[in-house]
Formats: sequence, C-alpha cells, structure tokens
Amino acid sequence: MTRAEAQDKLKKYGQEHVLKYFDELAEDEQRSLLTQIEETDLSVLSHISEAGKGGERGEFSPLAAMQLSEIEKRKTEFHDAGVAAIREGKTAARLLAGGMGTRLGSDNPKGMYNIGETKEVFIFQRIIENLLDVVNETDTWIRLFVMTSEKNHDATVKFLEEKDYFGYKKECVTFFKQSMAPACDYEGKLYMESKGRISTSPNGNAGWYSSMAAVGLDKVLQDEGIEWIDVFAVDNVLQRICDPCFVGATVLAGVSVGAKVVKKAARDEKVGVICLEDGRPSIVEYYELSDEMMDAKDEAGEPAYNYGVILNYLFHVPELAAVTDDRMPLHVVEKKIPYIDQDANLIKPSEPNGYKFEQLVLDMIHQLDTCLPYEVVREHEFAPIKNPTGIDSVESARELCKKNGIQL
Ligand code: UTP
Repeated sequence: MTRAEAQDKLKKYGQEHVLKYFDELAEDEQRSLLTQIEETDLSVLSHISEAGKGGERGEFSPLAAMQLSEIEKRKTEFHDAGVAAIREGKTAARLLAGGMGTRLGSDNPKGMYNIGETKEVFIFQRIIENLLDVVNETDTWIRLFVMTSEKNHDATVKFLEEKDYFGYKKECVTFFKQSMAPACDYEGKLYMESKGRISTSPNGNAGWYSSMAAVGLDKVLQDEGIEWIDVFAVDNVLQRICDPCFVGATVLAGVSVGAKVVKKAARDEKVGVICLEDGRPSIVEYYELSDEMMDAKDEAGEPAYNYGVILNYLFHVPELAAVTDDRMPLHVVEKKIPYIDQDANLIKPSEPNGYKFEQLVLDMIHQLDTCLPYEVVREHEFAPIKNPTGIDSVESARELCKKNGIQL
C-alpha cells in the first residue's frame, strides 16, 4: 500500500492521525506501518456504539444438561468409549492462550504466572499436568495445539521450551498465532502503541478454527483422523482436558459439541448459561436473563436455566468447516490499552481507557446443530484466574487447588 492509499483508507474512517509521525520513521518502519494499515480491518470501529450491549437475540428456551447422577450411572460406558476414541487418535486438545490477561496485570503470558507458594507451580504446568493424567491413563499422546497471539507468541514458546514442556512430548505440541484487531479510545479513534504502530489486540477466542485453517492445520486434523477437539481456556488451573468420561459421553450422544457446565451457585450468578436460542444451542449472558427465566423450572422442579459454561468444549471436527467468523457477533469490550500520548510517551493505563473488538468461542456454539451440556463438579474442575485477588483470582484458585490435594 502506498502512503497516498493509506491516507485515503484512514480518511474514510476518520483516522488520519495514524500517519502523524510517518516522516520521522525509518524506511522499514514506514513500510511496516503501511502494511499494518492495509491489513487492519477498520470497519470494526463502526461497532463502538454497541459497547456493553448483547446485540439482537432470538427466543430463548431451556436446554437440559446431563447431570452428575446420570454420568455416575453410565460412568463405565462413557469412560470406555472415551478411552477408545483417545487410543484411536481421534481426540486432540486446543489451548486458548492468545489472551492478554490484562486483569491479572502481568506483562508475561498468563500461563507463565506462578501460583506456587512453597515451590514454582505455573499455570501452564497445571494444565499440562492435568492433560498428562489422561496421557498416562490411556497410554496415548494427545495432540496439543496452542493458540498464541502476536503479543505473546515468542514468550510462550520460549518459556515452554525452557521448561521442557513440563514433561509433555514436544513433537505433539503445535503453536499457531491468532489474528489481531485494532483498539481505539471511547470516541472510536485508533490508539497508537508507538509512532509507527497502531495498537492492536488479539481478536477474541473464537478465531481459533479460522486461524488454524489459515495456517493449514485443518488439513493436519483431517490427515491425522482427529474427529474431536477439546478447546479450553488457559486460566482454569483445575481444567480437566480430554477426560475420557466427557469424551465418551459426547461421542456417544452424537452431538456437534459437548460443553462442560457447572450448576449455578445463585440464580443471578454472573456466568453464561447454556440454553437454546431459536431452537439452536446457545449461551445466554447473565445480564440477559429475565426474572421469569431465572425463576422458570424444569419437569423435576429444578431451575430450568441452571448450568453455566466454563469454557471447555469438545467440538466435532467435521462440523466446524460450516462455522464462519462473519456470522458471529462482534463484542466491543472495554479494556486497558497501552498507547502513546500527544508527546509520544508510552502510557500504560491502570483503568480501562477504550475498546477492543472480539469474537467469542461461545458464539460458535450457536452455529452448531446440537450440544450436550455435561455437568462437572465446580470445586473439582473450575478455578479460573482472572484477577490477582477476590473472585476468580490467584487467591481463590490457590484455595481450590489445595482442596483438590495439589501442593503449591
Ligand atoms: P479472557 O476473556 O479471560 O481474556 O480469556 P484474557 O485476555 O485472558 O484476560 P483479560 O480479559 O485481558 O484480563 C478467556 C480465554 O480465552 C483466551 C485467553 O487466553 C483465555 O484462555 N483468549 C482470549 C484468546 O485465546 N484470545 C483472545 O483474543 C482472547
């Protein structure tokens, strides 16, 4: 893209300030900025008026979860089916580690955070140890795909190399980067992170399949006969991945996706609830739940919207090709965005100062035909780390780890 073309594009979106320091830049920096302007989708900026809103939704109805009592009754059947699928190499794991972890406030990738008290226990280590439990039980190495982003890729790879993948087989780990989206202030003006670079951030955790496909990894899934892929977040340190019962229950149910869910702790708990929307699987956000929905009961007299998602899904690979990014809503999220001020000094704000644009994995569920909500015990499988202290924090996750006999 030439400077004149870049100027035209920026003018169209009212972003001419991006070229303010152009003449001061070295030639390679100029080229790199022009490429960034060319590659960045600025049309997302028109969505800022939707910030904090959920967008148009359809008609919600309940979707029954497979509860612990049924899972317990059919444990052997599920377990055997899961072990078989894993031993046949049909199952892979997908770690979502492209996020910035801004709430945690560490400059490193979230997985590098040490939650240990008397020894080092890194978040990545906890996840790999949990996956190793399944590897050891089934005597099968499970393919692990790690999605990073431009911002944390090198640090993530270097760290896992240094730690010798915490005992995982290196050849079974594949990294790839997700795409980026621009970040802007509350008026929709792009932030600059340096004189020659627009501030960008990872474009949300839904991009995992298209980002995999963009680097040809969908072909790898096909060639290796991988039929199921367990997609999970980096920040849940009790996360069980590809556990045979979950895999078996999902495979036997013949659904497009299995979703791990936990029983809500309160009727208004701040968690996305699994349900149907216009007859298709979906997730209703806590702020979208009406009083009527919170009080609705199922046939057994239990709350009808009672199961929250924990960002652990087992997707049926053949059905993913039909999932497209452009049918998913764009979430406009308030975040802390580092930027250069009028005098080109880099500012790292301590409070949110603008918007990022993300597509979320939960919106993928709505594009699929069928879903099995699979109940797990919250205290055993859900210890998310979002903040340093308080709810969903390093503190709360430490407590839960200890309750599960994990030495810190
Ligand atoms: P969160 O929504 O908690 O976001 O991610 P985050 O970026 O890690 O943290 P904050 O909001 O800045 O504090 C949930 C999961 O989705 C992944 C994260 O790495 C985490 O595993 N994720 C999030 C991505 O892989 N890419 C993204 O663009 C966003």
